[in-house]
Amino acid sequence: MSLVFKKQKMTEIELYSFNGSNFQFVYSLATPKQKLQWALKLTHRLIQTLSILKPLIGKVQEMTRARFYSAEGLLPDWIYFLLTRNGRKHRKYIQTLHAFSMKVLRERKAQLEFAKTIDVVDVKDTSSTKARKRRPFLDLLLKTAREGADLSEADILSQVDNFMFAGHDTTSTAITWFLYCMATHPDEQERVYEEIQECFGNSDRSCALEDLHKLKYLECCMKESIRLHPSVANFRRQISEQVQLDDYTIPVGASISVQIYALHHNEELFADPLSFKPERFKVEQSIGRHPFAFIPFSAGPRNCIGQKYAVYEEKAILVALLRKFHFTIDARHRPIKETHGIIMKPANGMPLLITLR
Ligand code: HEM
Repeated sequence: MSLVFKKQKMTEIELYSFNGSNFQFVYSLATPKQKLQWALKLTHRLIQTLSILKPLIGKVQEMTRARFYSAEGLLPDWIYFLLTRNGRKHRKYIQTLHAFSMKVLRERKAQLEFAKTIDVVDVKDTSSTKARKRRPFLDLLLKTAREGADLSEADILSQVDNFMFAGHDTTSTAITWFLYCMATHPDEQERVYEEIQECFGNSDRSCALEDLHKLKYLECCMKESIRLHPSVANFRRQISEQVQLDDYTIPVGASISVQIYALHHNEELFADPLSFKPERFKVEQSIGRHPFAFIPFSAGPRNCIGQKYAVYEEKAILVALLRKFHFTIDARHRPIKETHGIIMKPANGMPLLITLR
């Protein structure tokens, strides 16, 4: 896709697939002064890689879902992966993905061994004057292994995969649905924009950590958006102790599914549950709400370990986008349907109209 963007000209882009070319389109809109670049530049390499991996990831997700809803879901893994046609195909896709991550891991390991040192990245902590040193996640794991921790290549790989796959689709889906909520609620978009303006004025300075803490209304809108469109609509747990739920006894070993989507749309917990009402997440309106009524990141000891990072990342990207662009949607595309796979994506993409502010 090649697009030329002019002020006042409206251009519809398919936001969800946000592949290399869409990225370049958005990227081309940023002037060097607009420090929006930092967020986009950082994601550029990631997006390039993901455009290769994405179809494969899509296939694995699709096959996992198909297995879940078919009789093959009842088969033990070894029978499914070795003896069924779907299972063998599924295994092949997973192996290709793992081979890719293993290649990255081995290349980095070789680089670090060659350099005989492990890089640390200078991260200017904008909340203080100190510049702190931080290590990329993969380097940290490699260093820990080199110092004698009991971490095999496979263990490291599984951690990296976990972060890559648990962290990418979830966040990009949350951002996509958020922009949809803004496009369908222009008054709310203006309120968020005003809050951003109050924080930054006409300056084009970069967004710092303390700015993110100030943007309270943006946060209410993010919560309301993920309440309505949770990236992860349900998750499963195996019961380790017998549970009594009214007249029902759930035995040890049973597999249960926690329906985040249903919970977030329960009118006993959220009045008028289908409406987008960010005020419900203001402190005064949240008092008395059950702590497990709103669980987009799950809850308890196995909740999302990337939650804090995800919220900062999402906020920083949204600030960068909303400072510069205005989002609308052509009424013909509404409502956007949801898919109920592992990640609750828009069923047929997210075509949004974008204008420069
Ligand atoms: C909007 C963004 C995100 C949402 C909505 C989200 C949601 C969730 C949910 C619901 C779970 C529980 C899943 C289950 O138990 O089956 C989970 C687990 C997890 N998430 Fe996230 N997540 C997000 C972003 C991230 C990011 C950015 C990372 C990493 C950088 C991450 C890493 C993980 C990991 C490693 C787990 C597994 C934790 C465990 O089992 O102990 N997530 N996430």
